[in-house]
This record gives sequence, C-alpha cells and structure tokens, in this order.
Amino acid sequence: MCQGCHGETGMSMAPNFPHLAGQYQRYIERQVRDYQTAKRADPIMSGMAAGVTDPQDLKDIAAYYASQKRVIGKPGSDKNLTAKGRKIYFEGNMEAGVYACSNCHGEKGDGKDAKNNVFPVISGQPKEYLLKQMNDFKTGERRNDPAGMMGAIAKKMTEAEINAVIEFTSGM
Ligand code: HEC
Ligand code: HEC
Repeated sequence: MCQGCHGETGMSMAPNFPHLAGQYQRYIERQVRDYQTAKRADPIMSGMAAGVTDPQDLKDIAAYYASQKRVIGKPGSDKNLTAKGRKIYFEGNMEAGVYACSNCHGEKGDGKDAKNNVFPVISGQPKEYLLKQMNDFKTGERRNDPAGMMGAIAKKMTEAEINAVIEFTSGM
C-alpha cells in the first residue's frame, strides 16, 4: 500500500510525498501513529495510516524504509537563493530568534543519532513537501512537533526565509 506513493525503496513518486528511505525508524512509526490519532492531519495520509492496524506491521514497514538508501538531493538552480538558505540553515537569524536548523537537523540534514525518534532527516526531500511542512508549522496546521519546537521557529520566519532555506535543504 505504501509503495504506491512512497516508492518501493522509499523514494517517493511525487513532489508532495516525502521520501521515507533512510528516515529514522522510530520517527516513521511516530508520524504514522500521529496521523492515526489526528495529532497530525492530512487528507491523504490520515486514511493510509488508519489502514495500518497491527502495531507489528507498522514496526516492520518503518524498519524496512529506515534500512533503505537515503535520497541525495539535487542542488537548486538558483545559486543566490541557495546561498541565503545555507546561511539560515547553519546560522539561523539571531535577530528574529530563529535557531540554526543545523543545531537539531545536523550538519548534513540527517538529524541526530540513529536511535533518536525526535529529529528527522530533512535533506533531499522534495521542495513542495518541505514548503508545505514549514507553512503548516507556521500556521499551526501541523502541531505534532515535540515541545512545539518547529512551530516556534517557523512562526518567526518570513516567507522569503522559508523559501531560501528549503531551496538549500532540498539540495542537501
Ligand atoms: C496516496 C499516497 C500515499 C500513500 C499510499 C501513503 N502515503 Fe504516506 N504520505 C503521503 C503524503 C501526501 C504525505 C505528506 C502529508 C503531510 O503533509 O502531512 C505522507 C507522509 C508520510 C509520512 C511522514 C513522513 C515525514 O517525513 O514526516 C510517513 C511516515 C508516511 N507517509 C508513511 C506511510 C506509510 C507507512 C504508508 C503505508 C501504510 C503510506 N505512507 C502510504 C502520501 C501517501
Ligand atoms: C530546536 C530544534 C529544531 C530546530 C532548530 C529546527 N528544527 Fe525542524 N524539526 C524539529 C523537530 C523536533 C521536528 C519533528 C517534528 C515532529 O515530530 O513532528 C522537526 C521537523 C522538521 C520538518 C518536518 C520533517 C518531516 O518530514 O516531518 C522540517 C521540514 C523541518 N523540521 C525543517 C527545519 C528547518 C528548515 C529549520 C531551520 C530554519 C529547522 N527545522 C530547525 C526540531 C528543530
């Protein structure tokens, strides 16, 4: 069922579907549980998650996707925008209180250590997917982030900053 959109090896089929290849196992499990309990809502994924009724199936699916080779991002063609995004990724915007993404998502966009279930891999994800997540965190549409960590950051970012940081992150 999942491969119809997330691909056989976790490389997704469309720009609004996230890649799951190499995402942390416990992060995948937690997100699916959040869709099931409507802590995170999406018209497509909520229905898909509801279909996974056996907790062992969920563990197995997550382990499978986590074991797949991560998707390498394609650097954006807009060099100027990418450079702006890179600066935000590594330095944040201290005046506005935006923490650098690298603090939590790592120097390579690959989150933290392998056992963590909090900080996801964000490198190489399709731009459209990343943009939707940032805007959903900003508007409060997505609120399943532990301690409101992402909402607090996205709310302090301008549209231009979000576009720039995504241009960079998607290409990592
Ligand atoms: C019809 C297409 C479709 C199918 C089939 C599908 N998904 Fe999804 N999936 C999506 C979309 C779209 C999103 C992004 C939704 C959003 O913005 O929250 C998503 C998001 C996710 C996420 C969140 C990833 C992240 O990085 O936060 C996980 C985990 C996930 N899907 C797992 C699954 C699993 C497991 C299955 C099979 C049981 C599945 N999906 C089936 C379309 C699909
Ligand atoms: C203080 C730590 C922290 C910082 C700094 C941070 N994030 Fe996050 N981010 C998180 C956490 C925690 C999550 C997981 C949210 C959840 O569990 O739903 C997350 C999730 C995300 C997601 C959704 C990934 C997915 O597929 O579900 C994106 C995109 C993202 N962050 C981008 C960024 C960007 C861009 C920056 C810098 C502007 C940034 N983050 C800075 C903690 C942080």
